[in-house]
Amino acid sequence: MPRPIQATIHTEALRANLARLRAAAGDARVWGVVKADAYGHGLERVYEAFRGVDGFALLDLAEAERVRALGWRGPVLLLEGVFDTRDLELCSRLSLWHTVHCEAQIDMLAVHKTHTPHRVFLKMNSGMNRLGFAPHAFRAAWTRLNALPQVDEITLMTHFSDADGPRGIAHQVRTFGDATRDLPGERSLSNSAAALRFADDLAVRADWIRPGIALYGSAPDHPAHDAAHWGLAPTMTLASRLVGVQQLAAGDTVGYGSSYTAPAAMRIGIVACGYADGYPRHAPTGTPVLVDGQRTRTIGRVSMDMIAVDISQLPEAGFGTEVTLWGRASRGTVLPVDEVAHAAGTVSYELLCALAPRVPVVAD
Ligand SMILES: Cc1ncc(COP(=O)(O)O)c(C=O)c1O
Repeated sequence: MPRPIQATIHTEALRANLARLRAAAGDARVWGVVKADAYGHGLERVYEAFRGVDGFALLDLAEAERVRALGWRGPVLLLEGVFDTRDLELCSRLSLWHTVHCEAQIDMLAVHKTHTPHRVFLKMNSGMNRLGFAPHAFRAAWTRLNALPQVDEITLMTHFSDADGPRGIAHQVRTFGDATRDLPGERSLSNSAAALRFADDLAVRADWIRPGIALYGSAPDHPAHDAAHWGLAPTMTLASRLVGVQQLAAGDTVGYGSSYTAPAAMRIGIVACGYADGYPRHAPTGTPVLVDGQRTRTIGRVSMDMIAVDISQLPEAGFGTEVTLWGRASRGTVLPVDEVAHAAGTVSYELLCALAPRVPVVAD
């Protein structure tokens, strides 16, 4: 028998979340953001459920090739554009649309030999200060690109730094709007948080939205709201079983570093899941977990292959009992990955993407 750990990808939930985002998009088209191997879910596993998108947005050329190999003939967008002149040959061959965020990428396009001009997304740095042309340099970049025979349509794009938080997006929407006012072309601004939180704002919705995390069932603005608030369903369950039970007396300690000391007699279960499976090592004592569908907490330090959980209130629990690290338990109870991430001081993006290759994955 293999170790009992397993991840399950919930195909119906992927489909339902896409429908939810499509409803929020109104008339705008929807990129399904599938970078990082579909946020850890596996491109090939999400593909059928996401066939209703208007295009797939991703980062790696290898992932773009995989999407084409699956038979997708619609738009594929490279969110960071090309990294090297040779990448443009693949863009031509696979009809990939690509982001242009710096002069070096325009230089590469200018010397690229192609029979079919490329669709590009010209990116503005409207305040995130990661990628993109500064607002004052944007028009010149557009003019240069527009003059190239290698370039077909130019879509104007930007990315929000605070769509999920109190600072919001107004300052970036203003900067973007001011610098693009009389430029032609479609627009794309919104990630999941903007698409859901500002669904009624047509300027924010624009022509294309680019949701990622919401498609995978997480609330983009957790803990202000949870996934249920946005009508999103969990798309990944990480489940395992108890492989050991210990009876502790008051004063006994648990795990490496003896970081937890039992205040009284208690019963703990040992779960076949550790940081080598992708569970966050920094998840502290008290991180929520479901044992037999019932909520309890982790105890002590997460080790490479095991976690301890409190089963003092679960007398039926023993060797082989189901443990849900996040997602949906067999009994139907849900432990949102957002809650586990929050307890561990991170975001669900990181947990989903970090699912380790050694964990067997099935799709239901
Ligand atoms: C340019 C761009 N657009 C859209 C997204 C999707 O963001 P989210 O997963 O928050 O919806 C990302 C993700 O980081 C991104 O980099």
